Amino acid sequence: MHPESVLGLDQIDLSDLAFWERPQAEREDAFRLLRNERPLAFFDEPSVLDSPLAPPHGPGYWAVTRHADIAEISRNPEIYCSGKGAVSIIDLAPATVEYFTGMVSTDNPRHARLRRIVSSAFTPLRVKSIEQSIEEVVDRVIGRVSGTGGCDFVAEIAAPFPLEIICAMMGVPASQYDMVFRCSNIILSGGDPEYFPDGIDPVLVYAEAGRELTELMNELGRDRTDHPRDDLITALITTNIDGEALTRAELASFFIMLLTAGNETTRNALSHGLVALTEHPEQRALWLADPTTIGATGVDEIVRWASPVNWMRRTVTGDTVLGGQELHEGEKVVLFYNSANRDETVFDDPFRFDVRRHPNPHLGFGASGPHFCLGAHLARCEIDVMIRELLKRLPDIEATGEPTRLRSSFINGIKSLPCRYSD
Ligand code: HEM
Repeated sequence: MHPESVLGLDQIDLSDLAFWERPQAEREDAFRLLRNERPLAFFDEPSVLDSPLAPPHGPGYWAVTRHADIAEISRNPEIYCSGKGAVSIIDLAPATVEYFTGMVSTDNPRHARLRRIVSSAFTPLRVKSIEQSIEEVVDRVIGRVSGTGGCDFVAEIAAPFPLEIICAMMGVPASQYDMVFRCSNIILSGGDPEYFPDGIDPVLVYAEAGRELTELMNELGRDRTDHPRDDLITALITTNIDGEALTRAELASFFIMLLTAGNETTRNALSHGLVALTEHPEQRALWLADPTTIGATGVDEIVRWASPVNWMRRTVTGDTVLGGQELHEGEKVVLFYNSANRDETVFDDPFRFDVRRHPNPHLGFGASGPHFCLGAHLARCEIDVMIRELLKRLPDIEATGEPTRLRSSFINGIKSLPCRYSD
């Protein structure tokens, strides 16, 4: 049984960061209320950045909370476009959108062209072929903490692991991992004050993080022009689709997008996964007893449960109707995947963490459509290998305290999580 929501329908404000700081159960009750009573709810826009350089306040947005409505929007990119910005509710300057978010904020034909350039690196076959190197990184990461009795799970395990994988795929040298980590934290911080030093305009902090990553891309690009290798940087600089090479700006934004998209998401799935396995010992026992069978369903249950990306935005291109609600050209719709992943019309007992859940049509990687997560196979493999090895080598690993959560509505992030183990 789920208790009644502590918030009344009119008290829910998804644009207020204080809402996202509420305990998970309260947020989930509020979304349940929205799904049932006001599945398309209109909200004023958030004031994300305290800066004179921030864009003016926009007209508001529709929060879409039902699984079926989100699936319909994702299937129809001609009616609901991404090109005006998919990862920001407020309208950013077009150059900023392009720079920080790359293809996630483009539409066809440009989106298809950009996606084709990198898609071959993320197919199931290609991911299978790098499984061994994923296992090697897992081995190194767990090796560094074994014998210590406990650590910060995020800092020592969940964060460095996907970072090392995506950096290795890109061809970033190990000496730059710390810088990449710091900059991707800022870009996906959602304005969390921890990442913005006092007295410095946050817009400038974002810009500086982007500049550092661009400089690295330029440096690596120059190197690969003379010395091509089997890595993604080489693929990006040598690609030539329909006789057209990527522009310098496209290269930089590709680089930033792949580094950021591939890092925080898997990290947060793993951290929420450890919390869930700690709170549900019977589910962990199932996984421990049969990692191959349970991994095949448990990984997706972790992604459903965690919903590491809470939402993506689309913009209505012409007047239409969704779920009985009239929508007009230019209006923004925000797709709350976290809510779709608890939709009781789709999932049996959605508030139960069930590592054998099957089928599991969750929207943690987005819904079916052109923008469905490019890294889904890679992320699934990373989570599978890491959980399997953790349970094998540190079988009693458990979270020992409350996670420190990221102050963001966009990323369901965990900044730190104490854990202990006896090995
Ligand atoms: C558990 C881990 C992950 C989660 C939950 C996740 C989630 C998502 C979501 C929700 C979207 C947007 C879908 C849409 O708007 O329709 C997305 C897009 C994307 N993801 Fe992931 N992601 C994960 C891991 C990764 C990894 C490891 C990579 C590798 C680089 C990656 C690369 C991308 C890219 C490039 C896009 C944009 C695709 C496009 O616009 O065509 N993701 N992801």
